[in-house]
Amino acid sequence: MTSPETRPGTRPEARRGGLLELRDVAVTYRSAAGDVPAVRGVSLELAEGEALGVAGESGSGKSTLALALLRLLPKTARVTGEIMLDGEDVLAMTWGRLRAVRWASASVVFQGAQHALNPVRRVGTQIAEPLLVHRMATPARARTRVTELLEQVGLPAWRARSYPHELSGGQRQRVMIAMALACEPQLIIADEPTTALDVMIQAQVLTLIRSLIAGRGISLIMISHDLSVLAATCDRLAVMYAGRLVETGPSREVFTGARHPYSRALAEAFPTVGDFASRMAPRGLGGDPPDPMRLPGGCSFHPRCPVALPSCAWRDVELWPADRAPEEPASPASSAPSHTAACVHVLPDPEAGPEPETTGEDETPAGRPAKESA
Ligand SMILES: Nc1ncnc2c1ncn2[C@@H]1O[C@H](COP(=O)(O)OP(=O)(O)O)[C@@H](O)[C@H]1O
Ligand code: SF4
Ligand SMILES: [Mg+2]
Repeated sequence: MTSPETRPGTRPEARRGGLLELRDVAVTYRSAAGDVPAVRGVSLELAEGEALGVAGESGSGKSTLALALLRLLPKTARVTGEIMLDGEDVLAMTWGRLRAVRWASASVVFQGAQHALNPVRRVGTQIAEPLLVHRMATPARARTRVTELLEQVGLPAWRARSYPHELSGGQRQRVMIAMALACEPQLIIADEPTTALDVMIQAQVLTLIRSLIAGRGISLIMISHDLSVLAATCDRLAVMYAGRLVETGPSREVFTGARHPYSRALAEAFPTVGDFASRMAPRGLGGDPPDPMRLPGGCSFHPRCPVALPSCAWRDVELWPADRAPEEPASPASSAPSHTAACVHVLPDPEAGPEPETTGEDETPAGRPAKESA
């Protein structure tokens, strides 16, 4: 196990304690073309003060999952499962309670601040708004707090009078971070907070987010398609594919020693932050992520998996819990929430009856490397 000191982004105050617990969360959008199963049975925990990075290609369900946490999804979305925030069931909250929780307990930094900020209101007014709406400050105190927050995110106080279009992309993202911090929430959800920014500004904004949450016990869920960015910022990583979590674990372990073939490919596609040469030659995956309405049978990753076996096309997989070695047989009935995936084929074949634990070398496709421990 990697020591906490050597893990990227690890903050000593992070401790397990379940600020957020998801159990078998699924989100399905209804659309004219049919149901879109965007998130399919996600279970995970986030401790107080912990930073979790959620990675995955576009369309893997990251934003849907993030929006579900605060019930920010459109009406066409149906959410099932359990979302417990600080012991409260988010899906059962009244609208009044939900409004109180948004910003005050948990806040969101959206992708592309240009669209999230109101273009006709000064940024100071917008930063003060959650404080006033939640009656957490008088108007005079809110003005002082806006100045403090702007300073914390590296903007001069006079910027409070600016309109969003008068700021650069990086400055607008700083304003969004100030808004997210205004009510001192327990949880910040940052959905691709740096995707629209150039590389230098990206690094500054990430450093800023990390420094602002460090030491305050704020938990962070940071979403990105770039595993290296997340590995440098977060304590733990969760990798999503086709609406499911395929692997979770400490950042360094997932980034440098991923067990699931998809996580491995993602880590190789986004090499180390700052390593310019390797970024110029990423070894990415072929093919596209699947359309949720037309998911492949069996393991939904099988058409792209470099180590797929023939049976991957028709058999789904059991993921191994993080604290158990692949040699130990997992109970098919177990569905431990925090998986470190090792896509071992342990589900019995309903047609063929009991089967040995390993799938056998003769199944290895010609020309492909034999499957490793995964
Ligand atoms: N409002 C919606 N109605 C129907 N499908 C949607 C809607 N929003 C997202 N989707 C679909 O859900 C899937 C997951 O989308 P999203 O959560 O945005 O993924 P990500 O953030 O990982 O890119 C995608 O296939 C997307 O097209
Ligand atoms: S080896 Fe098979 S089960 Fe594992 S990720 Fe590849 S396709 Fe999926
Ligand atoms: Mg998204």
